[in-house]
Amino acid sequence: MNIIPVITIDGPSGSGKGTIGQLLAKDIHWHFLDSGALYRVLAFDAVEKGVELFDEAQLAILAKALPVKFIPQADGSSQVLLQDRDVSQAIRTEEIGNAASKVGAWPKVRAALVDCQHAFRQAPGLVTDGRDMGTIIFPDAALKIFLSASAQERATRRYNQLKQKGINVSLGDLCNELLERDKRDQERQVAPLVPAADAIIIDTTHCAIDEVLQQVKGWVNKVFSLHEK
Ligand code: DC
Repeated sequence: MNIIPVITIDGPSGSGKGTIGQLLAKDIHWHFLDSGALYRVLAFDAVEKGVELFDEAQLAILAKALPVKFIPQADGSSQVLLQDRDVSQAIRTEEIGNAASKVGAWPKVRAALVDCQHAFRQAPGLVTDGRDMGTIIFPDAALKIFLSASAQERATRRYNQLKQKGINVSLGDLCNELLERDKRDQERQVAPLVPAADAIIIDTTHCAIDEVLQQVKGWVNKVFSLHEK
């Protein structure tokens, strides 16, 4: 039995899980694993090396030896290195997000990334976000949160983020891509995106990030009696 505590935050893209996970981990001084970044780095590596996204065997070989490092930054984010090259920004595009969803649909790929994810479980504790953190990777987590939000709201959040970066996209196209990605993540044979039976479900559609963070901290206090800043 592993006694190092874990808090899992799962949910679809744009539900706020990454932001909440990062802020919470910083607050309570626990480690943080953004599991989506692992799938994104793998997809990025595959695209660069010309490995087809349907080639499960080759993708699993890449996944097993993925030379990825996460370097924690003062603001709670992480710099993502692939073979010592900074790919933090390059993996955040819509194309790589979609490619990550495709590579993540393969059972052998998921199996190849399990040990790497378990290695993040270090004292004093781990906050992690993804799709299957509470169901498959850390089923013994002491606190499991599942964030949801309407597709329209999630697409709008993404649209605003891209607009801030000066990138112009169509909201309708973003919403369609997001629904397609949700469908693939929810319907895959292994580790589909579903809330764990014992997860606390929070709908963030009408909530600001800070409100969601306060709710999550309330649960953290209840479960661990931790007094965050
Ligand atoms: O959380 P994100 O948007 O960065 O994740 C990108 C894709 O990676 C997501 O659409 C599906 C895949 N993924 C996964 O299959 N399992 C995880 N635990 C995290 C992400």
